[in-house]
Order: sequence, then C-alpha cells, then structure tokens
Amino acid sequence: MNDNSHSTWVTVDLGAIENNIALLANLTGVPVMAVVKANAYGHGIIPVSGAALRGGAELLGVARLEEALELRAAQIASPILVMGYATESDLREAAANDISVAIWSKKQLESLFMATGDIQNPAKVHLKIDTGMSRLGAQNEDALSLARQIDAADHVLFEGIFTHYARADEIDQSSVEGQEREFLEILDRINSAGFNPHYVHAANSAASLSLPESRFSLIRPGISIYGLHPSHQVPLPGDFQAALEWKAVLSQVKVLPPGSGVSYGHEYITQKDERIGTIAVGYADGFRRVGGNEVLVGGKRVPVVGRVCMDQVCVQLDEVPGARAGDEVVIIGSQGASSITAEQVAERWGTINYEVVCGLAARVPRIYT
Ligand SMILES: Cc1ncc(COP(=O)(O)O)c(C=O)c1O
Repeated sequence: MNDNSHSTWVTVDLGAIENNIALLANLTGVPVMAVVKANAYGHGIIPVSGAALRGGAELLGVARLEEALELRAAQIASPILVMGYATESDLREAAANDISVAIWSKKQLESLFMATGDIQNPAKVHLKIDTGMSRLGAQNEDALSLARQIDAADHVLFEGIFTHYARADEIDQSSVEGQEREFLEILDRINSAGFNPHYVHAANSAASLSLPESRFSLIRPGISIYGLHPSHQVPLPGDFQAALEWKAVLSQVKVLPPGSGVSYGHEYITQKDERIGTIAVGYADGFRRVGGNEVLVGGKRVPVVGRVCMDQVCVQLDEVPGARAGDEVVIIGSQGASSITAEQVAERWGTINYEVVCGLAARVPRIYT
C-alpha cells in the first residue's frame, strides 16, 4: 500500500515468517534456532524475532553481542546464541544477560573464566568446531581438551556444540558429507568422554532442507525463514512464502524530447519523445548502482535508464502510458500479474539474495503486516 507517507519502504509479512518457521519445524522434526543476525537479514530484528518465536523457534541466533543485547532490551527473554566473535568484555555482558556464546579457543575460554567468575548465572557456551569451513572453530585435535575445560569449569554451562557447512547449498553433497563425518567423529570422542551438551547443531537452511542426517538436535535456518531460496540448486519447497516486498513512489513523470540526457553523465539519451519517470529510491537505500535494473510500474516491468543516483533513479515509461506521479513502484514483490523476486535482483546484481536483503539501508522504513 502506498499511503503517501514514504518515498521508499519495505513491507514485511510477519505471518509469512511465522508460517515458514512452523513449516521448517514440521518438515525437520527438530527445534529451530531462527537466525536473525544482520537485522534479521534486513527484515528487522525485533519484529522478526517475535514472529519467529510465535512460529515455534526455540532459540535466536545472532552474529554479534550488540544484536543479542538489542533483543534483550526489547524484553525478548528466549535463549540467544552469539555465533560469531565475542570480545573479552562481550563475554562478561553475555553471561550477565543470559546470552550464550560460541567458543573455539583456549584463550577465549580463559578470558571467559576471568570475565564471568563473579556473575551469578552460569556462562553458557557452545563449542564451535571447524570441520571444513575454515572460518571459525576449534581444530579437530583441540576439540576434546576444550570440551574437558568447558565441562570442568565452575560457572560455565556446556550448552552446545556446533559446526557450519561450507557447501550445503550445492547438489553435490560430498563436501558436506566429509564435514559431517568429521563432526560425528569429534562428537563421538566428546560423548565417550562423558560430555553431552544439550544442543548439537550444524544445519543452515540448505542442510536442514536437503540433508536429514545433518539436523542433529537443532537446526539453524536463516534465509529460509524469510521465504528466500538457499540457492538455485537447493530451492525452497513451494509452501514457503517470501515475507519482504520493497516499494517506492514515482515522484515525477515527464515527456522528454529526442536527444535529452538522463541522470548523471547522460549515459542514457532519449531517441524520440520518451516518457521518463523518476523514482524516489537510490543507492543509499540499497538499490545497486549498476546497469540493467528493472522495476514494476502499472504491473509492467520497465527499465531503469541512466545512472542510479543516491536517492533517485529514472525509468523509461513508454510501455505504461497511464503512469502518474504518486504511483507505487515495486522493486521486489508483485504488482498485478508481474513480480520481481529477490533472487532475480541478485542475479542482475551478480550476487546472492542474502546480500540484496541485507543491503537494504537502515533509512528505508520497514512496515509490518
Ligand atoms: C553460523 C551460521 N549458522 C547458520 C546460518 C544461517 O544460514 P542460512 O541463512 O543459509 O540458513 C548462518 C548464516 O550465514 C551462519 O553463519
């Protein structure tokens, strides 16, 4: 809906997010940690987290402590795991706010002991194992001794153990299978030594959907809860629904004579009398400054012409003679019988749908339905 109160805006269907979480829980049969880092992939961390919990998520996953504290400040009391790096002072604040942290080194563990000894609640720890992503995590040979130290420590709860797959979104599953074999072997050693953390988790959206054996006792989906496809090779089942639409308003429409240069650098020059519209969205909103963009006006796909500016773009409207200033424009979403998906925008921008939605600027208002 264009209520004339915004130039560009995003709508987020929280019911779709709730439903997508419920679908994942039903499909996999294991509890869900909804991954809401990066402002819930651009969708808005607080409303999305509420929807995820209503949909049945048991935990929330974030990348940084600031994100977890934002959730606590909004009175969200559910379990939260900071999956990324926590500084020494973060470790203390996390424990004080009953937020779980990921640990993968002896040094971090020592910092945790130092920082949290006088805090009432136990510091909750998930041991992160690197089984082949080569990003974060303890190496195979250090896993058991870290597990021992975590388990032996007063004031520390060994709550979980996890790993992350590098290639779960591909058809060829051999890499994931290799990572899984290593994870199972480490788990076996840790369990045999008498340590049994409650949560064992590995699966992002792609693995949750396509690899039942990777689900362990918890799945960690992100992109799928927003109704976006993990990849071309691992698409979502049909009943998932994209939650986000991105719209803007047509701020001006004019007919320009042949030979008129459009936007900075005059890269586009009209060939005849042409209807050119201006839309109130630009690269400062997350609309990428590349050629070949398209949007929907009057239910038709129209080309963006000339360079994308910071707050505005121009479109060629000859195919939509009825278009008027004030009309709603769709950048991602549906209009009439036409639609543009985040995946199509990503393809045009040479990236992935994740980056398209995460790149939506903070200044773009999010409207929840
Ligand atoms: C550690 C970790 N787990 C889970 C996820 C969720 O992945 P996806 O959005 O592909 O489901 C991410 C996202 O990047 C992640 O970094």
